[in-house]
Amino acid sequence: MNDDGTNNNNSPLAIIIFGATGDLTHRKLIPAIYELTEAGKLPEETYIIGFARRDWTDEALREAFKSGIEEFAAPKPPLNDAITKVLQNSFYLRSTFEDPDGYKRLCDKLESMQVKNILYYLATPPDEYATIIAQLGTAGINRQPRGWTRIIIEKPFGRDLESAIALDAEVHKVFAENQVYRIDHYLGKETVQNILVFRFANAIFEPLWDRRYVDHVQINVAETVGVGTRAGYYDNSGVIRDMFQNHLLQLVTLTAMEAPFGFNADAVRDEKVKVLKALRPIRGQDAITNTFRAQYVSGLMGEKRVSGYKDEEGVPVDSVTETLLAVRMYVDNWRWAGVPFFVRSAKRMPNRMTQILIRFRQAPLSLFNWTNLAGDAPNTLILTLQPNEGIRLEFGAKAPGPVNQILPVNMEFDYDETFGSEPPDAYERLLLDCIMGDATLFTRADEVRSQWSYVTDILDGWEANPIRNMPVYESGTWGPPGLDEFIQQNGLSWR
Ligand SMILES: NC(=O)c1ccc[n+]([C@@H]2O[C@H](COP(=O)([O-])OP(=O)(O)OC[C@H]3O[C@@H](n4cnc5c(N)ncnc54)[C@H](OP(=O)(O)O)[C@@H]3O)[C@@H](O)[C@H]2O)c1
Repeated sequence: MNDDGTNNNNSPLAIIIFGATGDLTHRKLIPAIYELTEAGKLPEETYIIGFARRDWTDEALREAFKSGIEEFAAPKPPLNDAITKVLQNSFYLRSTFEDPDGYKRLCDKLESMQVKNILYYLATPPDEYATIIAQLGTAGINRQPRGWTRIIIEKPFGRDLESAIALDAEVHKVFAENQVYRIDHYLGKETVQNILVFRFANAIFEPLWDRRYVDHVQINVAETVGVGTRAGYYDNSGVIRDMFQNHLLQLVTLTAMEAPFGFNADAVRDEKVKVLKALRPIRGQDAITNTFRAQYVSGLMGEKRVSGYKDEEGVPVDSVTETLLAVRMYVDNWRWAGVPFFVRSAKRMPNRMTQILIRFRQAPLSLFNWTNLAGDAPNTLILTLQPNEGIRLEFGAKAPGPVNQILPVNMEFDYDETFGSEPPDAYERLLLDCIMGDATLFTRADEVRSQWSYVTDILDGWEANPIRNMPVYESGTWGPPGLDEFIQQNGLSWR
């Protein structure tokens, strides 16, 4: 919906990228804008204004955008009309975020372009968000008389409950909530959206999706990368702020939520918030017993020896920042009472992988005295979000032959095989949704607050009970023995 209540999504649009010389713009935003242009999904007149402080010109910006498209659009495109169009319509505005003059020049530029709709994208360090937003307000370019003005804010949105509330207050001084799109790019992934389609477009799974039939849930996000050049940022964040507060809690809510009454922004987000509010708080000493943390040390990633976390440039030698985190969670509502959700994420794992695993309860009676080679509970549903996107249901089948044996077998859906292509990039979908005014896949203010409320309890618990000996794991392994012991306390094992 536009600020003026009309719908003019095909009117001339300006996308203003704050932080246009940065990594996110280069690798994600510009390739996504190109893909949307190529697919004819953007308004005919779409301008891109790159706002940053480096001493660049329009030409330098266009060169950088061109190399970003060539390197990161998939498949690598030849020079074509869409690339030429994106580059021709891209302009550089050099200014610091603090300087009001930069915003005056931005006003003039927008005026001269005669655009109706304006999309701001904050691809900047998070401590710049409030400054930019306040400056946009002061310059009076936070609302359009004849179109819409929207703002996409990157994660992280705050670093605890207090700072998230404070940032929201700054945002809401300038923008109404329906102009604000807090991005969590996980929600733009096709396979993440498929969680809801799988659950709510098919009648056969939902009746099983509760405490009566589900034994436990595991959500695993494994990365192969270390912290690389982001050590300064990472050491103040750890897995809990970098992955858990946003991506992992999104996966928990999508897995646990009730069916919304409709597939629209408020209905979906209302249900997600209900799950967050039903999470059993992890406070005080519980923050020690219901979480497990560890740090990677040097090890072999394939053939290559990589350095340990504390050897990375910018990491203090006494750092207790976790690069691996597991959390035992409970959703205290009618559907999930008593069902543990084990959620873990780590860097420097042997493979990159994101999976949600629903382990169903055992059959009530073990008949025939068969040898069960499938393990105790063969019924497992695995949603693989990356790589090799797909869904697999594991069940037991009788192995051929005179001896009664049950073997684990699979029913499988493979995204690539079925649809013949890799899913489109998340940023492409999210940018388009924002332009269409659909906020379903963006995080609402109360949702972020509920996420931080849960996470801040854990952070406070950690602070009150400082960890003495942070467990370590070799890079290229699946974590230290303590990680297995953590889940074994519930008589379970990691997948
Ligand atoms: N990179 C990713 O893959 C990724 C993924 C998810 C989320 N994010 C989030 O996206 C945001 C941007 O990340 P990034 O990796 O792109 O950061 P980055 O590479 O460090 O880029 C930061 C940008 O902000 C500009 N900038 C910083 N301070 C400025 C100031 N005072 N005045 C004017 N310009 C200023 C820089 O301009 P100059 O270089 O010209 O100085 C640069 O264009 C962060 O919030 C990050 O958490 C990034």
